[in-house]
Amino acid sequence: MAAPTDQIDLTVLLETAVGAGRAAGKLLLEYARSGFRVRHKNPIDLVTDADHAAEQLIISHIRARFPMHRFLAEEQGHIEPSPSPYLWVIDPLDGTTNFAHGYPAYCVSIGLEYQGRCILGVVVDPSRDELFTATEGSGAQLNGQTISVSETSILGASLLVTGFAYDIRETARNNLDHFAKFALKAQGLRRTGSAALDLCYVAAGRFDGFWEVRLNPWDMAAGSVIVQQAKGQLTDFSGAELSIYGQELVASNGHIHQAMLTVLHEDPAQTTPPR
Ligand code: IPD
Ligand code: CA
Ligand code: CA
Repeated sequence: MAAPTDQIDLTVLLETAVGAGRAAGKLLLEYARSGFRVRHKNPIDLVTDADHAAEQLIISHIRARFPMHRFLAEEQGHIEPSPSPYLWVIDPLDGTTNFAHGYPAYCVSIGLEYQGRCILGVVVDPSRDELFTATEGSGAQLNGQTISVSETSILGASLLVTGFAYDIRETARNNLDHFAKFALKAQGLRRTGSAALDLCYVAAGRFDGFWEVRLNPWDMAAGSVIVQQAKGQLTDFSGAELSIYGQELVASNGHIHQAMLTVLHEDPAQTTPPR
């Protein structure tokens, strides 16, 4: 258990994360304009020069200020210079497929855990110049203005969002069953290709709910704090408290949460299309 003297002012941590996120967002836009190389991790899972460069920039920026902090970053994995209570969880480019196709729906996602608890989230969407921020106990903001989740209370009036993992071709647990069920029950259903932005959009009331079957900690770390601070609800599919290490995620405005969990547990064979 770290002593209280280990605790760093949240505003200093936020300032550092925003500085790193904005610089990385600018770098992504430069790569989008000038071009980049694409490598395949599997037939549909891509990584570009921009992913690596943005990640290195974020880590260097944070390390310059906090050299003893630990990192979990998508491309480099764990970096552990000391047994620090602080762990930065980073997705340098969430929405790589969109980025590689020139579709401007991607972001930088930087979350921070203190003693295993997510306490800060910063998500930068450089294409729209939108900065989502949250720190424990201080609410969630979009470009400095407080945001909160929607009031929609009926699933049939809700705009939902989801995503698919890169092993969609290899596993039956590929979310297509849930997608079919929600398509018949929601007002609308989207697949944007950026889980971190999907979480921020739930926080801002643009989406009413979001679920995904298999996410990584770096997809969820920042966005989960932003949803929580915007007074949203976050669980796994069983309704238990979200763990960013647990893959399954349901995020909502709270009002439709139980209805979403019920649909996730329905047998797909029972789904009757309306006549
Ligand atoms: C992906 C996106 C996508 C989600 C996938 C993620 P990446 O992250 O967040 O929306 O459906 O599960 O892996 O690869 O673009 O960083
Ligand atoms: Ca991601
Ligand atoms: Ca990524």
